[in-house]
Amino acid sequence: MALSIPEIQKAAWRCPSNIALVKYWGKKGKQLPANASLSFTLADLYTETTLLCTREHPGTLVVYLDGVHQPAFEPKILEFMQRIGDLLPWLTEYGFSVATMNNFPHSSGIASSASGMGALALCMAEIHARLNNQSMDFVLASNLARLGSGSACRSIRGAVSMWGQHDDYPDSNDQHAIAVDALLHPVFQGWMDAVMLVETGSKSVSSTQGHALLSEHPYAAARFQEANRNMSRLKRILQEGDIPSFVALVESEALQLHAMMMCSSPSYMLMQPQTLSIIQKIRSFREQTGIPVVFTLDAGANVHVLYAGQQHKHLEETLFVDLAKDCERGRYICSNIAAGSASLT
Ligand code: PMV
Repeated sequence: MALSIPEIQKAAWRCPSNIALVKYWGKKGKQLPANASLSFTLADLYTETTLLCTREHPGTLVVYLDGVHQPAFEPKILEFMQRIGDLLPWLTEYGFSVATMNNFPHSSGIASSASGMGALALCMAEIHARLNNQSMDFVLASNLARLGSGSACRSIRGAVSMWGQHDDYPDSNDQHAIAVDALLHPVFQGWMDAVMLVETGSKSVSSTQGHALLSEHPYAAARFQEANRNMSRLKRILQEGDIPSFVALVESEALQLHAMMMCSSPSYMLMQPQTLSIIQKIRSFREQTGIPVVFTLDAGANVHVLYAGQQHKHLEETLFVDLAKDCERGRYICSNIAAGSASLT
């Protein structure tokens, strides 16, 4: 290798989570999406990771979460490092220590894999840039994040991010996400997400298993087509500020994701009775007040409630008090929708 490899390298990044409006569910090839997807970035739900590379014991890895050694996390990260070896040939020269913390519960259906893999990918991209005397390459970071966890590639840049080749989105591609903040009509600016924490334990079926079930799924082709059509519709909706169509599309996407799970073989369900209770309460609140509150779901039981930031105080005093009754220990977490990745050094 022509590069001179220093004894020690260190990088530290914060990376936010994201919530998809049009869902990525099903993959092809090497971690490429079966359909395009679009997400809002959750700036206040993030992972912070410090990556330390030393030449002393090449090939080794130690992972700490909140300062506690987590051997259970190591195989996934080692596999990730092998997968990206051709992009970052210097990886074989180092041993690694990864120290990470989330400011939200992990394995809760809040995408800790997205923010976690995103933060690690950002650290690696920074070290890669330094070793090659180049400037930070966020396209590379998004590409690396995708290879760790598909949806992670949408957390790297922008408040609104899309991933997957789609004819209506210039420069879109399957390898990395692009920021599409410019699409947002002013009525969607300053929106927020309140995540209702119905269940904060580990999921019964992981996303990896869920994606795999799409390969034999009777409705997979129809779903991928509908998701791509929804990407076209959503582009118009975001540009025109068409809130009623936004509500209908986003809620339909969430339910389609879970419908695909329910009619997978074997079938499974990640929603809990409280999930449905929250959904019903959101719909009746919207009907009664005319305030546009919109639910969406990740691959878990928690409910994401999207709403205009001006309504925050009012909703905290009304709807959220009611929804919190269905949450584990009455807990929910609010986040601004904004770009959020940042170097911590
Ligand atoms: O990134 P993965 O492989 O964990 O898949 C996550 C997929 C969903 O969160 C359910 C949808 C999405 O587009 O984020």
